[in-house]
Amino acid sequence: MSETKGYVDVVLGLQWGDEGKGKIADFLTPTYDVVARFQGGPNAGHSLEMNGKKHVLNTIPSGIFHENCINLIGNGVVIDPVRLMEEIKRTEVAGATVKKNLYISRKANIILPTHKLLDAASEQRKGDKKIGSTLRGIGPTYRDKYGRSGLRAGDFFTADFKEKYNQSIKRHHALMEHFDYSDFDLKSLEDEFFAAVEELKTYQFVDSEYFVNDLLKQGKKILAEGAQGSMLDIDFGSYPFVTSSNTISGGMTVGLGVAPKHIRSVKGIFKAYCTRVGSGPFPSELHDENGENLRKSGHEFGATTGRPRRCGWLDLVALKYAVMLSGVDELIMMKADVLSGFDTVCVGTGYRGKNGEVVDAIPFDFVTAEFESTYTEHKGWHEDLTGIKKEEDFPDTFSNYIHWLEEQVGVPIKVVSLGPDRAQTVVR
Ligand code: GDP
Ligand code: IMO
Ligand code: MG
Repeated sequence: MSETKGYVDVVLGLQWGDEGKGKIADFLTPTYDVVARFQGGPNAGHSLEMNGKKHVLNTIPSGIFHENCINLIGNGVVIDPVRLMEEIKRTEVAGATVKKNLYISRKANIILPTHKLLDAASEQRKGDKKIGSTLRGIGPTYRDKYGRSGLRAGDFFTADFKEKYNQSIKRHHALMEHFDYSDFDLKSLEDEFFAAVEELKTYQFVDSEYFVNDLLKQGKKILAEGAQGSMLDIDFGSYPFVTSSNTISGGMTVGLGVAPKHIRSVKGIFKAYCTRVGSGPFPSELHDENGENLRKSGHEFGATTGRPRRCGWLDLVALKYAVMLSGVDELIMMKADVLSGFDTVCVGTGYRGKNGEVVDAIPFDFVTAEFESTYTEHKGWHEDLTGIKKEEDFPDTFSNYIHWLEEQVGVPIKVVSLGPDRAQTVVR
């Protein structure tokens, strides 16, 4: 028998990111002792709203606004010291006790100023074929990690940190020359980088794999908070239009150093429709006024970059794929309030290829072949859902939509979010 008494629940996005992970992780935090991020970096923008105030977190886990919650940035995360320090300061000003409650893995890889420049250089070189990266240095940092030449947070405290840094910069300079990219002022970027590193060193760094497993032994309950979404996963997303980490539940085990047997449940978050920022396939994308209405009423503009998000109907082919990949036990549906007012709500149930054939699985040529969703239509609802506190008060048409989705996916929808605020959440 294992002596471990605690467990990990994983909460992650099932679409192309921005499903509402920040809101839900914050909402769920009171039933956990720890919230831990396991992958991604400041490409994430997680919005939380409480008491009429909105907060956006990029690298700090979404449990930070709860007084006694441990927040861990795991080894699988990539950290930009400059952005993290800015985020820490604004989060402290907003009332969170970051010094006491934030722990940073010594094994987390560091985003250097040149990683951000390389991101920009690579996107510029790709031209029309660009990924639409957030330009936070994510791809180049993970490339160095897997190329076994990255710098890690623990290196801040070693005598040869500057030497290791200089070696990286030398390599990056050669790459920038290859990209013919020279439009930058590295000196000022380095000044802010080293100043941020010194400040960050006054926070708590841990050997996170021991830290988190000790917490499990003590019986602590851990919520592992995903970033991005399953369709942006490096292996299973719409490659190459993806991010550079494993966003599915398996990413948790390597991103925290926690064995799979400690997972109690996987909670998958999806919007009642779909959005995507950046390039890549989106078979249920709407280019008409319905898409425009979704963008307007859903305020679909990036929390990190402010870019308008592409909007479309819910895509069940992608949703079922994501549920399969992560072994999702329960679903959390977000932003159904945004669908109020449509006479008809469509749900994508298949992909039609150029030859007219319809498939209901993600094909290998998802990116190169141009698929369009085929739809099932549902009667819409016109009632304002944002003030509803219990399921019994859902309009019948909305309840029917929920039941139909549960049947299609084969997983219960346990939580329904009807507005950005913590309080606008109905547990079923
Ligand atoms: P995340 O990256 O998954 O945490 O999601 P984002 O924060 O990037 O984007 C979700 C956006 O929707 C944010 O602006 C949230 O405040 C907002 N939001 C979250 N849940 C709901 C909801 O149920 N209804 C509405 N209308 N907005 C929501
Ligand atoms: P959260 O955690 C939505 C997208 C980018 C781009 C691709 C690669 O807030 O859901 P990257 O910066 O990783 O090189 O970008 O992935 N992307 C996101 N889209 N939400 C995110 O995070 C995203 N993080 C990256 O737009 O298409
Ligand atoms: Mg986001």
